[in-house]
Amino acid sequence: MVTDPTSFIDTWKAMEKLLKTGKTRAIGVSNFSKSELEVILREGSVVPAAHQLELHPYLQQKDFVAWHMEKGIQIIQFSPCGNLNAFYRDVSWAKEEAHITRLIDHPVLLNVAKKHGKTPIQIALAWGVVNRRAVIPKSTIEWQILENAAADKIVLDEEDLKEIASMDQKARFNDPSADFGYKLYIGLDGATV
Ligand SMILES: NC(=O)c1ccc[n+]([C@@H]2O[C@H](COP(=O)([O-])OP(=O)(O)OC[C@H]3O[C@@H](n4cnc5c(N)ncnc54)[C@H](OP(=O)(O)O)[C@@H]3O)[C@@H](O)[C@H]2O)c1
Repeated sequence: MVTDPTSFIDTWKAMEKLLKTGKTRAIGVSNFSKSELEVILREGSVVPAAHQLELHPYLQQKDFVAWHMEKGIQIIQFSPCGNLNAFYRDVSWAKEEAHITRLIDHPVLLNVAKKHGKTPIQIALAWGVVNRRAVIPKSTIEWQILENAAADKIVLDEEDLKEIASMDQKARFNDPSADFGYKLYIGLDGATV
């Protein structure tokens, strides 16, 4: 990858100008660390509408999530199915995390799913939705897409949430820092350094 010397805050300020032209109604970021977001909050004039980041029961990032809520930044969970994406298990940047149990085979999700008459993947997705996050699973298979879409109707109780909280392993599957030549996720759970 060839990186440009333009700083992200200059890019952000250029994006802010697009709001005034009406070409976009909202602007946001992806894969930012807290310190990078703090630069935007300090030097920019618009709070990001959303931050798209890796989040699933194996990487819950509780403090970082709470901080977004405090700042009014909507979280969009990418890779909400954790290591179900074969890419994260079979290749990687693969550290030992790549070989942990597939998210949907985890006994906690199996138990909660059984209790609600749902599937483990629906519980993993519902965990994000009930916590007021946008959740964007990817699938190429129609029945799976329908199954995923139905997950936003599921109500989880306190006991379910407590059990799912125990699944956090600070396991980050998507960290292409080495390939990008740019250190991502500094200070965040599951960062490589
Ligand atoms: N901003 C970023 O840096 C970033 C990084 C990564 C991903 N993303 C975005 O996040 C979204 C999802 O990411 P992702 O593909 O990494 O992760 P994901 O949605 O967590 O996982 C996708 C994997 O889960 C499988 N799957 C989905 N629904 C399933 C179901 N109901 N039952 C069984 N298996 C199921 C898919 O299988 P099949 O393919 O066989 O259906 C695929 O292998 C995409 O829109 C992507 O663009 C953004």
